[in-house]
Amino acid sequence: MAKLRQAVVGYGGMGGWHVQSVREKVPEIEVYGVYDVREEALEAARAKGLHTYSSLAELLADDTIDLVTIAVPNNFHKDIAIQALRAGKNVVCEKPVTLNAAELEEIIAVRDETGKVFSIHQNRRWDKDFRIVKAAKDQGLLGKVYMVESKVQGSRGSMYGWRGHKENGGGMLLDWGVHLLDQAMQLFDEKVISVDAHLLSMYTPGVDDNIKVFIRFEGGCSYEMEMSTNCLINAPRWHVQGTEGTLQIDDWSCKGRLLKLKPNAEMKWSDDIVYTEAGPTRTMAPRPEYTMNEIPLPDEKPDWSDYYKNIVGVIEGKEELIVKPEQALRVMKVIDLMFKAEKEGVGQKCRI
Ligand SMILES: NC(=O)c1ccc[n+]([C@@H]2O[C@H](COP(=O)([O-])OP(=O)(O)OC[C@H]3O[C@@H](n4cnc5c(N)ncnc54)[C@H](O)[C@@H]3O)[C@@H](O)[C@H]2O)c1
Repeated sequence: MAKLRQAVVGYGGMGGWHVQSVREKVPEIEVYGVYDVREEALEAARAKGLHTYSSLAELLADDTIDLVTIAVPNNFHKDIAIQALRAGKNVVCEKPVTLNAAELEEIIAVRDETGKVFSIHQNRRWDKDFRIVKAAKDQGLLGKVYMVESKVQGSRGSMYGWRGHKENGGGMLLDWGVHLLDQAMQLFDEKVISVDAHLLSMYTPGVDDNIKVFIRFEGGCSYEMEMSTNCLINAPRWHVQGTEGTLQIDDWSCKGRLLKLKPNAEMKWSDDIVYTEAGPTRTMAPRPEYTMNEIPLPDEKPDWSDYYKNIVGVIEGKEELIVKPEQALRVMKVIDLMFKAEKEGVGQKCRI
């Protein structure tokens, strides 16, 4: 089959990344052209051997283009996605797919009308740290998982560029929140039954920049996410507790530990109070070493290019879409409720 032809709308940081990464890793796709509102961006694209379009309309009128990738600020996603679908293009849209669930529902209606493929670039489903956690949970290494902490902590102080402006769909919840929530909802195939959010605006007035958000799954797991911008000593990227083990992943290098309870190594309680560094306590006294085993972390080697290879397979009618708009819709519904929780200062019950 001939290569699919791709054009990218928005040739900034992420548009450039799509062009380069697809060229390097996805031979099934020819990255052909780019449209951007900035002339400097078009010049940079030409320097990389790309065709440039002078308007979005011109790009969408090019019948040789099969796939349009949207990598512009968040507030423009909906309109460009709808125009591209109506022009008969398959579409990959950067995250957050839209600013809220209602906007995404509009896109889904047009997707259904046109029958074209529409997906969201939730590339962090292919992150190694996330895959290790998912493999440990799915392989039952931790027993029943009942507490998860998922944290990303930067230290550069504020949200950069358009991310600092509400009208562009800026703010941390729409930026990183959408990734961490998508991961959470991939880990647990269960309804979300409540959400809460503390969306602080500490350094970038007008948008949330340091946030803690919480969801509870129907099966009982309590899931906390933190995203911050002025953290000088990082907490672990992941801390996951289950009935049979605890997993910690320290940072993006994926160093970490998985401690598992030994089968049949029962822990004996003493009626006497134990004097520990924590003071007099039985509950917080250290667990005897003979009841635990350290085991290697699951060996995961995810390949991001599988995202685009799947898009090609779906367009050719050979595969089922991995990142579905319906999954993103659940994430956007949770995000809508998180903004409500922050506004009202109280957690929200739901069934999403
Ligand atoms: N998946 C990820 O890991 C990831 C990482 C970074 C950014 N993103 C997403 O990618 C998108 C772009 O972010 P970025 O960091 O590349 O921003 P950026 O500011 O670096 O680039 C945006 C580009 O879009 C252009 N642009 C703005 N409005 C336009 C319009 N109406 N039509 C055409 N071009 C337009 C700008 O001139 C700029 O070149 C955002 O939605 C962001 O959330 C995703």
